[in-house]
Amino acid sequence: MGSSSDDEGEEYLFKIVIIGDSAVGKSNLLSRYARNEFNMHSKATIGVEFQTQTLEIDGKEVKAQIWDTAGQERFRAVTSAYYRGAFGALVVYDISRRSTFDSIPRWLDELKTHSDTTVARMLVGNKCDLENIRDVSVEEGKSLAESEGLFFMETSALDSTNVKKAFEIVIREIY
Ligand code: GTP
Ligand code: MG
Repeated sequence: MGSSSDDEGEEYLFKIVIIGDSAVGKSNLLSRYARNEFNMHSKATIGVEFQTQTLEIDGKEVKAQIWDTAGQERFRAVTSAYYRGAFGALVVYDISRRSTFDSIPRWLDELKTHSDTTVARMLVGNKCDLENIRDVSVEEGKSLAESEGLFFMETSALDSTNVKKAFEIVIREIY
């Protein structure tokens, strides 16, 4: 591959949002991806946080600005601003808590209502390390994703399974 240089003038910046119920692991997916960190005792997110991650695709520098917000209604910032300009979304549930899977249609509706372009969407069943207390089967996740036209992946922010993959499939799809 050729050497990259700053003065080639081509740079891509994509906004990606992470949504889903409280405590499904949104903030830990982001910290695992961006900093390779996991926090067993992370606090609920208040407002909005984001991280920028740079990766190289086909020899081009691509920057993903990944936004993370509160799953809890009372801690959420202005919704339309959160979604504005987003080209990708990770829609997350917790495979050990069915209620978080049942919420997915509501999150997809909200995303649709507030997004202004076509959004590359990945359904993410997080906490796949908790196989012993699984409450949603892989097949259910797959079939919901298929019927809604989303990518699908089970992940674990705890043991890193598929975390990088989930983000990078969305980023590549946008690119
Ligand atoms: P809100 O900010 O309230 O919307 O929650 P969140 O979706 O950001 O969840 P957060 O990342 O704070 O994680 C909630 C809890 O789940 C924490 O105790 C994490 O340590 C735990 N957790 C997150 N990801 C995983 C995972 O992949 N496996 C397991 N076992 N626990 C996880
Ligand atoms: Mg959070």
